[in-house]
Amino acid sequence: MPNTYSLPGSSRVHYSAIIGRRPELRDWLRDENKSWLPVIIGENVVIQPYVTIDGGINVRTRIGDNTLILAKAHVGHDAVIGDGCELATGCVIGGHVVLGDRVKVGLNAVIRPGIVVGDDVRIGAGAVVTKDIPNGWTVAGVPAKQINVESFLYNKGLRDNAVGNVETCEFEVTWPGIFS
Ligand SMILES: CC(C)(COP(=O)(O)OP(=O)(O)OC[C@H]1O[C@@H](n2cnc3c(N)ncnc32)[C@H](O)[C@@H]1OP(=O)(O)O)[C@@H](O)C(=O)NCCC(=O)NCCS
Repeated sequence: MPNTYSLPGSSRVHYSAIIGRRPELRDWLRDENKSWLPVIIGENVVIQPYVTIDGGINVRTRIGDNTLILAKAHVGHDAVIGDGCELATGCVIGGHVVLGDRVKVGLNAVIRPGIVVGDDVRIGAGAVVTKDIPNGWTVAGVPAKQINVESFLYNKGLRDNAVGNVETCEFEVTWPGIFS
């Protein structure tokens, strides 16, 4: 990627990205004397143009290894982003959000502050996530809801045996118990 600088651990950051800036919180913006915590960037991370990542207040905002952050994405203060994640252009990750490993966040999606997202989750383009998401789910829409139950079961080889009657299964109750 041209116009980038390197960090230890082969991570590359575009010059226009702003990393470790003052947390976006009213109290903090008003008080010039407050200090904040630097961001942790893992290994082999790519950060594209105009990305903003706020410094932490209680914990250091962290970007996991092998994570890709595309142009204009924002990561709020104290957020912890796992390894191997992909944050697409324009997405907004609120403060204190925790993303597991290998989470894919779609274009312009928004994750409300404080939400916890499991491993291997896919969040659709334009989604607004208002509730925690268990491992392996795909969610989309406003507010974001789980989609693709049928194809998930099919891909796991469960469509025709273990789970039984898909139409009457209580997925929201049974999934975390079975697969997490
Ligand atoms: C959510 C997503 C992961 C689902 O992909 P998928 O598993 O292939 O699902 P499908 O395309 O088969 O869609 C399944 C259903 O969800 C709906 N859907 C898919 N994406 C949606 C979205 N972003 N918002 C609302 N509904 C969505 C589809 O319309 C479809 O509904 P239907 O069953 O009523 O027809 C994908 O659509 C998406 O949004 N990916 C993000 C893409 C992106 O931003 N990439 C970054 C590029 S740099």
